[in-house]
Amino acid sequence: MQPMFFCKVNYQIFLCPVVEYEVKIWADSVFGSDFMQVAMIQDKIVPVEELEPVYFDRGIYFGDGVYEVVRSYDGKIFALEEHLQRFANSLAAIEITGVDIDQIRSRVRKASDTAGISNARIYFHVTRGSAPRSHIWDADLKPNFFLTVTEAPDDAEEKNKGIAVSTHPDWRWKRCDIKSLNLLANVLARQDAAQKGCAEAILVDEAGLITEGASSTFFAIFGRTLQTAPLTANILPSITRKFALEAGKNIGLEVIEKSLTPQQAGDSDELFIAVTTKDIIPVVGFDDKLIGDGKPGKYTKLLIEEFRSFTV
Ligand code: PDD
Repeated sequence: MQPMFFCKVNYQIFLCPVVEYEVKIWADSVFGSDFMQVAMIQDKIVPVEELEPVYFDRGIYFGDGVYEVVRSYDGKIFALEEHLQRFANSLAAIEITGVDIDQIRSRVRKASDTAGISNARIYFHVTRGSAPRSHIWDADLKPNFFLTVTEAPDDAEEKNKGIAVSTHPDWRWKRCDIKSLNLLANVLARQDAAQKGCAEAILVDEAGLITEGASSTFFAIFGRTLQTAPLTANILPSITRKFALEAGKNIGLEVIEKSLTPQQAGDSDELFIAVTTKDIIPVVGFDDKLIGDGKPGKYTKLLIEEFRSFTV
């Protein structure tokens, strides 16, 4: 006969089969309850008090954290200080305190050196900490840090041939200037783009204006004018955007920071997206429109060259 035990869940007593672990009914768990509290991971019942802190990470429950992505070129981390400053701004904006940016810098460098990948993507995030699920946080929570160093994929083909993008409603919240872990709207938009055979989704707000890509900044070129949306709370202050604008000025383009409509984007001479992991990628298809002659435009190619000079 299968061994059974009594289990209390929310004031009710159940007779349950004993599962893989040694069952105990504890009086006062981490939640200060007199009742047995359980979690279930896939099919496995686990006493709440035995859960690893990672299961209580507020990043999972609420996306309550912020992140950064930096990359290295030939072993040199590009624009680390700019990324750390934005990270500090994001932390401050969501009131995560007690994170030492100098320590983050050391961790990024140490992990990058340890991996020894010359062209690497370095992802890191800080969440508010681990605690039983509650919207309200305790001031004494200890933030959790996580980082990965992985190879930055070769984007030569995308750079040479360009990519197609498709528009999607911008369903995000009103503080897109914070690099928050809440990326569901971005994920859904990119998935929609992927299903249409496109490499990026270009987000369009309720006023009919393009904000940015789901994971990149969006630029258009008209004649000798380089245009992108202004920095507001609706877009991320992209680091690559900053360097792309600098590159634009260096090659003699006039820069305008003004939002554009999908119609205007479709009628542009050249389009491109900018993002840390890939720097500048030409866009040759916009929804059902071909941009220019369907090949990366001449200024976009010059911008890619100019950008490269920043990274060496
Ligand atoms: N995404 N806009 C959004 C919404 C982004 O998610 C990103 C970057 C950018 C470009 O920012 P930057 O130039 O600083 O990388 C603009 C990252 C890389 C990501 O989520 O993976």
